[in-house]
Amino acid sequence: MCGIVGYVGRSEAAPILLDGLRRLQYRGYDSAGIAILNSGHVETRKCAGRIAALSKLMTAKPASGTSGISHTRWATHGKPTDQNAHPHFDASGKLALVHNGVIENYQTLKDQLSHDGDRKYRSQTDTEVLAHLIGKLYDEAVAGVADPDQKKSALVSAVRNALQQVIGTYGIALVHSDIANFLIGARRGSPLVLGVGKEENFLASDVSAIVAYTRDAIYLNDFDVVAVERDKFEISSLAGESGDHQVSKVEFTAEDIKKGDYPHYMLKEIFEQPDSVRDAMRGRLSAEECTAKLGGLNMTPAQLRQVGRIVLTGCGTALHAAMVGEYIIEQLAHLPVEVEYASEFRHRNTPMTSDTLVFAITQSGETADTLGALRESRRKGYRTLGICNNVASTIARESDGGVYMHAGPEIGVAATKSFTSQVTILTLIGLLLGRMRHLSTSEGSDIIEALQALPGQIEQVLELSDEIKTIAEKYAQVSGMLFFGRQCNFPIALEGALKLKEITYLFAEGHPSAELKHGIIALVRPDLPSVFIAPDDAVFSKNLNNIEQVKARKGPIIALTSGAGAKQLNAIADDIITVPNAPDFVMPVLTAIPLQLLAYHLAVALGRDVDKPRNLAKSAPTVTTFARSEGFKSLPHLVV
Ligand code: BG6
Repeated sequence: MCGIVGYVGRSEAAPILLDGLRRLQYRGYDSAGIAILNSGHVETRKCAGRIAALSKLMTAKPASGTSGISHTRWATHGKPTDQNAHPHFDASGKLALVHNGVIENYQTLKDQLSHDGDRKYRSQTDTEVLAHLIGKLYDEAVAGVADPDQKKSALVSAVRNALQQVIGTYGIALVHSDIANFLIGARRGSPLVLGVGKEENFLASDVSAIVAYTRDAIYLNDFDVVAVERDKFEISSLAGESGDHQVSKVEFTAEDIKKGDYPHYMLKEIFEQPDSVRDAMRGRLSAEECTAKLGGLNMTPAQLRQVGRIVLTGCGTALHAAMVGEYIIEQLAHLPVEVEYASEFRHRNTPMTSDTLVFAITQSGETADTLGALRESRRKGYRTLGICNNVASTIARESDGGVYMHAGPEIGVAATKSFTSQVTILTLIGLLLGRMRHLSTSEGSDIIEALQALPGQIEQVLELSDEIKTIAEKYAQVSGMLFFGRQCNFPIALEGALKLKEITYLFAEGHPSAELKHGIIALVRPDLPSVFIAPDDAVFSKNLNNIEQVKARKGPIIALTSGAGAKQLNAIADDIITVPNAPDFVMPVLTAIPLQLLAYHLAVALGRDVDKPRNLAKSAPTVTTFARSEGFKSLPHLVV
């Protein structure tokens, strides 16, 4: 994915556009660019590399003006070079466009454009083709037109007409040097927010880019086109119909997205977990009824009672949270739960029973595969709920209901606090469904007590950070790490390995402990430590057995245990991390955090860029399989 920002107002646009891009770097950071409108021409600066490189370029060669657009890129079409950096221009060089998404039929559009003569493209991007198409339609419409208002509506029409020909996803912002102080934005499948200010307005992929300037936001819908000026804006559909749009108050402030005294967002977010887990439960536990209250599910008790099967879907870290959720919900509610990779689920014709309830789990609420899975599930008529962090994200809006995480902005690319919030919410779901089935009031009450103790226990785990740092530094020269766990802690092994891969670039794999003997043991060697997640639980002795097997083959052992487990591990583990004892269903939250810290400290020891690991972006785009008409019923002539 990429990040886009637009500004029109009375202040200098460049600092606002650059500041916005810095906040969107989690969306991609392999090149960046800016276009400023000034006295009838567009000034542009762009380069490969991060915002810092663009900022340097702007200092060396400033661009002045009170409106413009900017972009930070995560490359899809074309390498991350200066030429492929956005903005891209039309043939006249007067229209500049930034884009987040994938124009799937760009080659067809390019071929069609070539019918009226040779066109010179400066990049290998799909975006440049769209800029050419809009520019061509506009130029044809304004031949001989001098009136500025007519030019504005001609540009809006050109955008609409061009986008009607597009298959794929887009969040775009554009300016044209013919028309001062005028931006156009549009979206389909990629997020776009309109920030409403006083004598200034903004466009952004995410409100975090503009929250320092305004907390009034309109979350645009798919197929919206917005024309933005200093003191007004007009939102219409791709077909030209105007609709209702609500101004929402952004929940967080600019302060919330600052690093504060932390060296990295990731560390800040790890340390926010006592609060984020508390916020995931806030107002959702009823001590009186010994259950969870989740009104956002939009389901009556009778409907919840009818649920016979649950499918949990997501990508990356969210998928691992789903896997933990599978163990917890099955344990608490005795309901069959299946976990599906969203990327597979969306294209697979999974047989499901009519009483299946589907949950799409996602921090950003924008991950394309998770969105695809949600749409496929809804298309087939299943009730599909979201577990999202980003308020008003696409998945939050397209679900039949759901639960917000309220974890606050997560900026570090490696997901941390969103994971523990997701697991906490899945536990609440397990409690709610369990209490409607076989859990007694006293069992419900015990679960609530364990959940309420969790934030305090997380604080105790965070106190281990220095100890974990020492362990991480000791292993800084290893070739990789293996992670093992059983039951609820098997997904934690996967998540521990994912964190390590993402931010240290070391080889890492997670497995159920018992799988060791079925192949993985062949990897065991002195420079490949094994991290065993072995809390003092019913399967502790089985884990101990596996630890012995690795030790016997000279594999170093880092044991993550709880309570009395440490005593038994003393003689065989090289290093031991001990978290507080807790019931099985809350233990994954306590065991995940030391592994986040282990990956973090190891990455710092290796000098990695923790918050912006190479090749990654915070939630991933993909090529859609949607036809042009999908979701846009008012354009029947586009039905494919
Ligand atoms: C990946 C990120 O691109 O998307 C992961 O690198 C993340 O960290 C995954 O877990 C899913 O993101 P989301 O926003 O759907 O939870």
